[in-house]
Amino acid sequence: MAGFSEQIKGCIFNLDGVIVDTAKHHYTAWKRLANQLGFDFSIEQHEELRGLSRLASLEKILEWGNVYMTEAEKLHWSDVKNNWYVELISNLKPSDVLPGALLFLRQVREAGLQMALSSASRSARSVLRSTHLEPYFDVIIDGYSTRKVKPDPESFLLAAQGLGLRPAECVVFEDAPLGVWAGVAGGFTVVGIGQPEYLPKAHLVIPGFENLTFNNLLAQLSGTTVA
Ligand code: G6P
Repeated sequence: MAGFSEQIKGCIFNLDGVIVDTAKHHYTAWKRLANQLGFDFSIEQHEELRGLSRLASLEKILEWGNVYMTEAEKLHWSDVKNNWYVELISNLKPSDVLPGALLFLRQVREAGLQMALSSASRSARSVLRSTHLEPYFDVIIDGYSTRKVKPDPESFLLAAQGLGLRPAECVVFEDAPLGVWAGVAGGFTVVGIGQPEYLPKAHLVIPGFENLTFNNLLAQLSGTTVA
């Protein structure tokens, strides 16, 4: 698409599973909780939780385990899971950044584009701090900033608004099907991170940032029919 590269002025990144591999820690903590409640759940089921808020994730897990809880109990167990998760991520280091991600962020910065983070996690800032990535983001939207969960595009729209850009001027990077839907619904160009069969709505799917240059990504996107 002619002029696509000039049209793009910002990049919005999801965090868990896109920049840092924290999804495995969420899984460990949720599995521990399920086991304490007397059932198990698989890593495949956990895939469905990517992008969901803490409470929405718990509700889905309780549904799988056929467990009823009052609202107060849900709050209690969400806190228990979060304490385990926070403990698991307490030792995150810059080396936990996913392969190629740091180099890619640097290239976007050098190209003069703005960058935002859009995550449903309330621990997003702490993860960015431990991995030394906080200075890369002009705007950070986390689990405290939003009221609606993906596939509602609220989180991306707030990020674009914070950057002072229109959705058509931003590329969103997402690993979760729900997040990809949210980005497309918001009018963004969406790059899915993962396997194409799980992310059919994305404008382009890449396995990760390893060996990817920003210019190469723009070239690939220019060949797709986007916004
Ligand atoms: C991200 C993750 C989810 C997680 C959610 C809330 O979207 O993909 O797995 O449940 O954030 O995270 P939090 O750290 O606030 O519980």
